[in-house]
Parts: sequence; structure tokens; C-alpha cells
Amino acid sequence: MDRENEGYSTISVKDAYSLQNAGGLVFVCTKGADGRYDLAPVAWCCPLDYEPVSKFIAVLDTGHKTWQDILETRRFALAFPSIGQKELVERCGSVSGFTVDKYESFSIPFMPGKAFDLRIPQGVAGWVECSLIKTEILGTSGIVFGETLEARALDDWWKERLHYVGNAIYFRPGDRV
Ligand SMILES: Cc1cc2nc3c(=O)[nH]c(=O)nc-3n(C[C@H](O)[C@H](O)[C@H](O)COP(=O)(O)O)c2cc1C
Repeated sequence: MDRENEGYSTISVKDAYSLQNAGGLVFVCTKGADGRYDLAPVAWCCPLDYEPVSKFIAVLDTGHKTWQDILETRRFALAFPSIGQKELVERCGSVSGFTVDKYESFSIPFMPGKAFDLRIPQGVAGWVECSLIKTEILGTSGIVFGETLEARALDDWWKERLHYVGNAIYFRPGDRV
């Protein structure tokens, strides 16, 4: 190791994404043309713009039910899991809405969406409801671009949000600095 780089380990080019993956998790909440509500945890989500309204992008595998639902209905919500919802995140991330009705099977209590007929899991730190602007596909990665119609949050939402790095590492944000 060079002296100048002392203290830094090499991260493989495959795992390098995790260095920029320390943001807050979201649940992508959808309702399909089949009438079934679904939700999937997604770590790859990012704000895109705020003028005149907030816009977001989220990266979904094109094999996911939530991806198909968004293409069908052109609407979705991003709900922000709170610290106590790690178990729910892992359950919802372990099965597809193609095979399981997650809200029914896991008895997930929910709030109705404000702009859209969507289900928001109770206990989240907040949520935004988005209409789809466009999609892009690269390989099996589908990117959804959404603009916000409604948003709600707890007063101290930023302290409550569950964060995820990768490799099963979840964390609570530190103190405000
Ligand atoms: C902590 C966590 C983060 C995840 N992040 C993503 C992600 O960023 N993009 C993605 O496509 N899938 C992600 N997944 C996997 C999906 O949530 C999972 O495949 C889910 O079962 C898809 O459900 P669906 O088929 O009902 O849409 C993540 C799973 C977990 C547990």
C-alpha cells in the first residue's frame, strides 16, 4: 500500500456502489392493474430536482412486481421505513408480489394514499406519492422517474429513518452536526 493511501482498503469495482449507498431506504408502494397492492424495499433511490416540485429516481429490477405495477399504472409512493421496521423491510424484500400478497400475508397495517389509491405501511417516517414521468432501462435495471403530488412526514422524520449500506448492514443516522 502507498504511504499516501494508508488506512484505506481497496474496494472491488463491483462493491464500490456501496460507498454511495448509505442513504435512506424506501418502500416502493404500488397497486397493479390486477388490483393487488404491493411494496418492496429499495435502497437505490435518489432525489432528482425540487423545482417546481420534488422529483425522484428509483432503480428497480425489471423482474419485480413493483416495476410492472408502475409501468401499468404510472403511479407509486416512496414510503420511508423507520428504525423499528427492519424486520418488515427484510420480509417484504424476500418475496415478490407476483407470488405473495404481502399486505395480506404479513398483515401489514396501512394508511390510504392522499393522491392515489395506494397503501402506505403504518409506522413509516413519511412518504411521497409520485406520478411517473418516464422510465429508462439498462440491462435488467429499470429506472423510474417520478414527480411528487403529495408528501407527509413526522416532525423528526430525519431521525427516524432506517438506512442501509448493503451486505445486511442497516444503521441509524448519527447526531446532527
Ligand atoms: C434492504 C433491501 C434493499 C433493496 N434494494 C433494492 C433496490 O434498490 N432495487 C431493487 O430492485 N431491489 C431491491 N431490493 C430487493 C427487492 O426489495 C425484492 O426483490 C422484492 O422482493 C421485490 O418485490 P416485488 O417483486 O414485489 O416488487 C432490496 C431488498 C432489501 C431487503
